[in-house]
Amino acid sequence: MARVVRFHRLGGPEVLCIEDVEVPPPVPGEVRISVKALGLNRAEVSFRAGTYIETAQLPSGLGLEAAGVVESLGQGVEGLAVGDAVSIVPPVSMIRWPTHGELVTVPAGLVVRHPPSLSWGAAAALWMKYLTAYGALVDIARLGSGDFVVITAASSSVGLAAIQIANMVGATAVAVTRTSRKRQALHEAGAAHVIAMAEEDLEARLKHIAGRDGVRVVLEAVGGPIFAPLTAAMSRGGILLEYGGLSPEPTPFPLSTVLAKCLTLRGYLVHEITGNPGKLEEARKFILAGLEAGDLRPVIARTFPFEQIADAYRFLESNEQFGKVVVTI
Ligand SMILES: NC(=O)c1ccc[n+]([C@@H]2O[C@H](COP(=O)([O-])OP(=O)(O)OC[C@H]3O[C@@H](n4cnc5c(N)ncnc54)[C@H](OP(=O)(O)O)[C@@H]3O)[C@@H](O)[C@H]2O)c1
Repeated sequence: MARVVRFHRLGGPEVLCIEDVEVPPPVPGEVRISVKALGLNRAEVSFRAGTYIETAQLPSGLGLEAAGVVESLGQGVEGLAVGDAVSIVPPVSMIRWPTHGELVTVPAGLVVRHPPSLSWGAAAALWMKYLTAYGALVDIARLGSGDFVVITAASSSVGLAAIQIANMVGATAVAVTRTSRKRQALHEAGAAHVIAMAEEDLEARLKHIAGRDGVRVVLEAVGGPIFAPLTAAMSRGGILLEYGGLSPEPTPFPLSTVLAKCLTLRGYLVHEITGNPGKLEEARKFILAGLEAGDLRPVIARTFPFEQIADAYRFLESNEQFGKVVVTI
């Protein structure tokens, strides 16, 4: 038996409970992991509330990220051994492979030996944020030297990962946050420019920063009215990658701007990387190299004990955080 996080009805953090559950041994191709730390994600909030792309079957487990020690191997698993310190690339299904528990099984292809210098908490908080930012900025947009990239919800875990990746490839990171409260921290995190969108004219600031060439790449997690100023400041042929939807407001389609500048507005899911073994391997190499070189440095906002998992989600949903919320077991 192992303690796992479950919920019996949809709702807020209060529906979460920790229960003793029999965790079956790994089937062929899977690995069972004794978990040391968990990384928390917005997708789990949506899953728990019943608004995610996957619908929970109650009672349900949850969780996309964890780090720990390999406890047992299913048949046919190669390249991993019992006792290895590993972290988990987010599985495509939270129903099939929930990761928030003391003992979890996941496909071996999603298990990575991370650099030993990382704490369990940092290792548990790696893959969602770096894979999401990498897939959009490097795999799709081919971000590089000389590019301006605008990163909205910049203090989010993905936003901070995107700032680090932008700097790694020689681009100029322009961070957009709601208020000035996190401005200094965003500069210290590597943003060349920070715009507080509730306090400043976003379009004017972006045009001033990017000049005549405009912004070629936008990594966008908010949606809503922000689409108008963002697209107005984009360069001809620019690309906006929409991966979030944090704003509850409707998102207008800026038809004439999109048409006049031949813009690409593209939805993006990290599954485009995690569901493609070739792309995932490229991404893993890029991220592990960045971690080894010190270009990528996981930012942990706060760490909670396992027993306080509901409080950890309350903190995540408060939007007070700067970086990743982590839970240790
Ligand atoms: N498509 C994918 O594959 C994929 C993968 C990972 C995450 N996501 C999505 O990406 C988004 C960010 O995830 P995360 O886990 O990195 O977030 P997070 O760490 O929880 O960060 C949330 C931050 O977003 C900003 N924010 C929150 N509500 C906002 C609003 N209404 N308007 C503007 N900004 C708002 C706040 O930053 P400030 O205080 O700086 O304003 C807040 O601190 C979520 O929507 C998540 O579901 C998508």
